[in-house]
Amino acid sequence: MKPHKHVSLDFQRMQPSQQLESSRQFVNRMAQRRSVRFFSAEPVPFELIENAIRCAALAPSGANQQPWRFVVVQDPEMKRQIREAAEAEERESYEHRMPADWLDALAPLGTDWHKEFLETAPYLIVVFRIDFGLAQTEEGGSRIKHYYVQESVGIATGFLLAALHMSGLATLTHTPSPMGFLTSILGLPKNERPFVLIPVGLPSPDATVPELTKKSIAEVMEIK
Ligand SMILES: Cc1cc2nc3c(=O)[nH]c(=O)nc-3n(C[C@H](O)[C@H](O)[C@H](O)COP(=O)(O)O)c2cc1C
Repeated sequence: MKPHKHVSLDFQRMQPSQQLESSRQFVNRMAQRRSVRFFSAEPVPFELIENAIRCAALAPSGANQQPWRFVVVQDPEMKRQIREAAEAEERESYEHRMPADWLDALAPLGTDWHKEFLETAPYLIVVFRIDFGLAQTEEGGSRIKHYYVQESVGIATGFLLAALHMSGLATLTHTPSPMGFLTSILGLPKNERPFVLIPVGLPSPDATVPELTKKSIAEVMEIK
């Protein structure tokens, strides 16, 4: 492949005081992010969703292959189908499929197989990982290997969640397991696999969240 031309970096250097102010503000805003499981049906501007996806799509990725797709579902009938399929899988997981240690790990959160938020949230963003590219050659189709798909899509999803939160929206990181039903309901090709399902909107007025603590900086950071 031809090497890329190199251009000057557009880097806006900040004053140290601005840097500190900005980093502290960002930490404070991110400290307010929570996984929300009770949504209001109140509509939210589509541009907020689109801008958050623009932000996610700016994430770094292995070899800049950008192995992701973000499917925004707003159609009530499609949301109903997704809820029905997710609840069927989740019910099987909670009642039969998953071992006791999985149920024990989830028990403090108080979650169960009911996923009403999949219909009430105004938008569902389904993040897909594109496991390999498809190229058409004279001899027929061939696969283009994608590198570090899991890491790249994970980072892009982090950008997405942060951008949605910074736009004043509530999200849930939801992984009904298995998630294959999303590929068929949304009509995507087989090389694109669902990675995470994110309901987005405003919390319902009476929304609650589990009282959780996060590890302290001393527990998560090591300085050598
Ligand atoms: C990869 C991943 C998968 C998750 N899957 C689910 C899920 O399927 N259902 C759910 O209710 N929460 C899910 N969560 C949300 C976590 O339970 C939540 O992030 C955690 O309890 C911490 O709470 P917080 O996000 O409010 O800080 C998931 C989170 C991550 C990062």
